[in-house]
Amino acid sequence: MDILVIGGGGREHAIVWALSKSEKAGKIYCAPGNAGIGQIAECVPIAVSEFEQLTAFALEKEIGLVVVGPDDPLADGIVDAFEAKDIPVFGPRKNAAEIEGSKTFMKDLLRKYSIPTAAYEKFGDYEQALAYLRSRTAPIVIKADGLAAGKGVTVAYTMEEAEEALRSMMLDKVFGDAGTQVVIEEFLEGQEMSILAFVDGETVRCMPAAQDHKPVYDGDKGPNTGGMGTYSPLPHIDQAIIDKAIESIVIPTAKAMVEEGRPFRGVLFAGLMISPDGTPKTIEFNARFGDPETQVVLPRLKTDLLEIFLAAVNGTLADIDIEWSEEAAVCVVQASGGYPASYPKGIVISGLDEVSSGESALVFHAGTAKNEAGEWVTNGGRVLGIVGRGTTIEEARAVAYAAAEGIDFEGKHQRTDIAAKALV
Ligand code: AMP
Ligand code: GLY
Repeated sequence: MDILVIGGGGREHAIVWALSKSEKAGKIYCAPGNAGIGQIAECVPIAVSEFEQLTAFALEKEIGLVVVGPDDPLADGIVDAFEAKDIPVFGPRKNAAEIEGSKTFMKDLLRKYSIPTAAYEKFGDYEQALAYLRSRTAPIVIKADGLAAGKGVTVAYTMEEAEEALRSMMLDKVFGDAGTQVVIEEFLEGQEMSILAFVDGETVRCMPAAQDHKPVYDGDKGPNTGGMGTYSPLPHIDQAIIDKAIESIVIPTAKAMVEEGRPFRGVLFAGLMISPDGTPKTIEFNARFGDPETQVVLPRLKTDLLEIFLAAVNGTLADIDIEWSEEAAVCVVQASGGYPASYPKGIVISGLDEVSSGESALVFHAGTAKNEAGEWVTNGGRVLGIVGRGTTIEEARAVAYAAAEGIDFEGKHQRTDIAAKALV
């Protein structure tokens, strides 16, 4: 069966890599892909927003399954567009992707179904939002309602920061229409954890938990990024807490979506905070695989990913066995100088082929290209994700960092403390 994967980052590289191991997989296309993905799939130069071109391509190539990676096309209804042409597609429809695309929708849903999340109020009027904000105390969290490339959340430690965030979202419109409505919510303290699940409406099949590192610098300092590194499993978090999160949050949310007439089919991704007393609460939901969570979760999958996608599309997820390896995985992201603010592109990368051809680490490309001389160059903020595997987090981490040492480019930066929290 020929497959089309939509997207072009490290997440999509990991998805294509896992699919390429399936015996059932025929030719794999990736739109638009990137130079690293181009080593194992045929990249198709169509943007993720070009629904007509993408559906026409899928029909022409008689694609048997489309898999959608990124959030924006899901929120814009790419799944509905493929379904309208009877093309099998893995991902939530527009009305289900709203769980990520609108924070007010998500918060109202959780409130309605008594699913644990931070206390909040939502506002469409600046003066009312400001008055409410001034009745609260810092730390406090301000969120733009819509998608803002992962930048729409401000965790404000002072009231000045909070007011500044509110002003820039609602008056200065720094996130455009995404900031027309805002959510002001309670600050939650604790450990963060991501639980991703394959969902086919009713059935929820959770993947092993992972932890992301969003701030750009060591010690969780600096501005938030898309994610600077991940690891899985989380040996320092009790399985009982993970089970509680699945039972009190992930499963009830999928059920709530069915009851709302918006059955969720695809990867439901819960971003959770575990309070110091061990209670998990929802920070956010995403309607897709995480990036770079996928890079540590899929290498642990023993079952054929294509079988899982097809079962989700056919509504038979309950009938298949899904097996995970006990092995640990750690992903270290290497980013361009300047990221998450502006950064240069086209910087030559050295050592990549040597490290990629080694046995020890997996290298997923997030933003790379080849220049005219055939050299690897940077082509994005996040450039590479280096994944180490081992019997423990400690081993996996050592493998990832040793491999990362071998790759260099001007301005390269990576965190040195990925998975350090798990080394107890
Ligand atoms: P999001 O874009 O919704 O994933 O939020 C980005 C980051 O902001 C999260 O990973 C958390 O670290 C932080 N965050 C979001 N909401 C809260 C909250 N209510 N309390 C504390 N931190 C939060
Ligand atoms: N790594 C967080 C995300 O994909 O949203």
